[in-house]
Amino acid sequence: MRFSVPSVAVLGSTLLACSALAINPLVIKGAKWFDSKTGEQFFAKGVDYQPDIIETSQTRDPLASKDACDRDLPFLKDLGVNAIRVYQTEPYNNHDYCMKALADAGIYVMLDLSTPTKTINRDSPAYDADLLGYYYQKVDAFGGYDNVMGFLAGNEVANAPNNTDSAAYVKAALRDVRAYIKKKGLSIPVGYATNDDADIRWQQQTYFDCNSKDEQAEFYGLNIYSWCGEDSSYTISGYDIVVKNFTNWDVPVMLTEYGCNTIRPRTFPEIAAIYGSNMTGVFSGGFVYEYVEEDNKYGLVTVSGTKGTKTQDYDNFKKALKATSPKGVTMSSYSSSAKLQSCPSVGMSNSWMASSTLPPTPNNATCACMMKTLSCVSKDTSAPTDLDKLTTWSSTVGDIFSYVCASIDCSAINGNGTTGKYGNYAGCDTIQRVSWALNAYYQSDNKKSTSCNFDGFAKVVTPSSSSDSKCANSTDDSSSGSSSSGNSSSGSKSNSKSSDAVNNFSSFTALTTVAIVAVAAISF
Ligand SMILES: *[C@@H]1O[C@H](CO)[C@@H](O)[C@H](O)[C@H]1NC(C)=O
Ligand SMILES: *[C@@H]1O[C@H](CO)[C@@H](O)[C@H](O)[C@H]1NC(C)=O
Ligand SMILES: *[C@@H]1O[C@H](CO)[C@@H](O)[C@H](O)[C@H]1NC(C)=O
Ligand SMILES: *[C@@H]1O[C@H](CO)[C@@H](O)[C@H](O)[C@H]1NC(C)=O
Ligand SMILES: *[C@@H]1O[C@H](CO)[C@@H](O)[C@H](O)[C@H]1NC(C)=O
Ligand SMILES: *[C@@H]1O[C@H](CO)[C@@H](O)[C@H](O)[C@H]1NC(C)=O
Ligand SMILES: *[C@@H]1O[C@H](CO)[C@@H](O)[C@H](O)[C@H]1NC(C)=O
Ligand SMILES: *[C@@H]1O[C@H](CO)[C@@H](O)[C@H](O)[C@H]1NC(C)=O
Repeated sequence: MRFSVPSVAVLGSTLLACSALAINPLVIKGAKWFDSKTGEQFFAKGVDYQPDIIETSQTRDPLASKDACDRDLPFLKDLGVNAIRVYQTEPYNNHDYCMKALADAGIYVMLDLSTPTKTINRDSPAYDADLLGYYYQKVDAFGGYDNVMGFLAGNEVANAPNNTDSAAYVKAALRDVRAYIKKKGLSIPVGYATNDDADIRWQQQTYFDCNSKDEQAEFYGLNIYSWCGEDSSYTISGYDIVVKNFTNWDVPVMLTEYGCNTIRPRTFPEIAAIYGSNMTGVFSGGFVYEYVEEDNKYGLVTVSGTKGTKTQDYDNFKKALKATSPKGVTMSSYSSSAKLQSCPSVGMSNSWMASSTLPPTPNNATCACMMKTLSCVSKDTSAPTDLDKLTTWSSTVGDIFSYVCASIDCSAINGNGTTGKYGNYAGCDTIQRVSWALNAYYQSDNKKSTSCNFDGFAKVVTPSSSSDSKCANSTDDSSSGSSSSGNSSSGSKSNSKSSDAVNNFSSFTALTTVAIVAVAAISF
């Protein structure tokens, strides 16, 4: 079904090659997962797994740590889990050791594509070719392992009615990663994990399942914490309503996080429901939050160096899980005729703010082409990687956007997930978009030398191309409702009315700083 990991035997090793414990890839049919070889239905008996391994500064990737895997695998096996969800990994690391160890233990892996710094920011959503390229790298890094059960294109990105416009960007990324996986001849599904906010639950679940088969989430995850302790129940927790509302869904649904801890130690009474007949017809199991004990006290295991110690929750979870035996159907006996949903209607505030018109696929060539036409650009060619410097830099960039776009039409570099209008260069990266703004300002101020400075942020350059009218190809044009001709994005047409009024950036005292750059949108 998907590319297999190059056989170790081919590489000359005999030790690992004779491992008979190859794991069967999973497949989705209708609203259920199945073992592709046996045809048995698969229910995730999972745990969310993100021990805080810092391999290099600012990167966390437990699947690249032999020590972590050696330490944790015996616990995972003992718990009886068959899947883990890992939030943060890095594509440039080698994951062979851990992925093989997990496969040999019969454990599937669900992987989030985003990281705290590489993600769509719910407060100022944008989606560029750097982020998409990063997601591609994740697919490249993990696509060869048979035990990857799925990728998640986001985790709780929209989490309140007033930031639901971010869902349009997440769904665009999901669409594009799906297309890339297909192009590579792989068959790993891409889904989305949502928070459980009753105000927007129905809109979110229908939005990720509407409009087009090529855009829909191939499975849907719910992070739910409403069942707290023995005094709660299937109905008190509201699980019954959730299940009812996913009945006859057309893709698998699962709990990507569960396990309320307001009453501790946890005894996990919800596990009997999740793997019992009330839910198995609709849900495909779930992932308990979480393996490692942190300050928030959800852990099953306290880790320290190469040592792990069980918490009180550990045995309770193990016992509850062992007591279940979810009954499924076989792949051959199952068929589904469920269909896509209708998209939720869009209101401007506090209801549902994401248009069904998604941002176009970000395109490096379009942006590089536009850059060649500019006479004033950012001095920096990339954003700082140091987190503190990045924060300061982002704030400066935010000031520049606020300042320039207060007087100049910036629709070419802006997108709007609510109206579904995306400028030709809205999918360009921050350096490119701020350069576009700097140039627009410079042009509007008749190329006065002082107007390409911005406290040393900008510099004058000689453009190598005179017009950007060919930069956005017709695909980009048709999806942009904000600029009617190639000329509109050059900046030169903008009214320069106010540029004389304030043409000294230093003396400009902050308009509201708009956090344009996706920094620290920590949606984990
Ligand atoms: C766009 O270019 C950047 C910089 O070279 C690269 O990191 C990224 O992967 C590219 N994106 C795509 C979608 O190819
Ligand atoms: C969005 O709503 C939340 C409450 O749900 C509020 O705290 C926040 O300030 C609002 N954000 C904006 C930008 O209005
Ligand atoms: C359940 O589904 C109905 C539509 O069938 C919807 O109107 C309602 O808001 C949903 N309720 C929840 C809590 O999601
Ligand atoms: C299943 O649902 C019924 C009511 O709908 C409830 O009484 C029962 O406790 C539920 N089962 C479990 C295991 O929660
Ligand atoms: C999107 O457009 C609507 C309608 O013009 C506007 O109210 C909203 O503020 C815009 N959103 C963003 C993020 O610019
Ligand atoms: C526009 O560019 C994209 C990305 O390079 C490409 O997939 C698409 O086919 C192009 N469209 C046309 C009409 O050339
Ligand atoms: C761009 O503007 C120039 C002069 O302002 C005009 O001659 C040309 O037709 C315009 N091009 C487009 C694509 O609108
Ligand atoms: C810009 O403003 C700063 C601070 O008010 C001042 O020091 C500087 O001389 C001004 N520069 C120009 C070119 O007017």
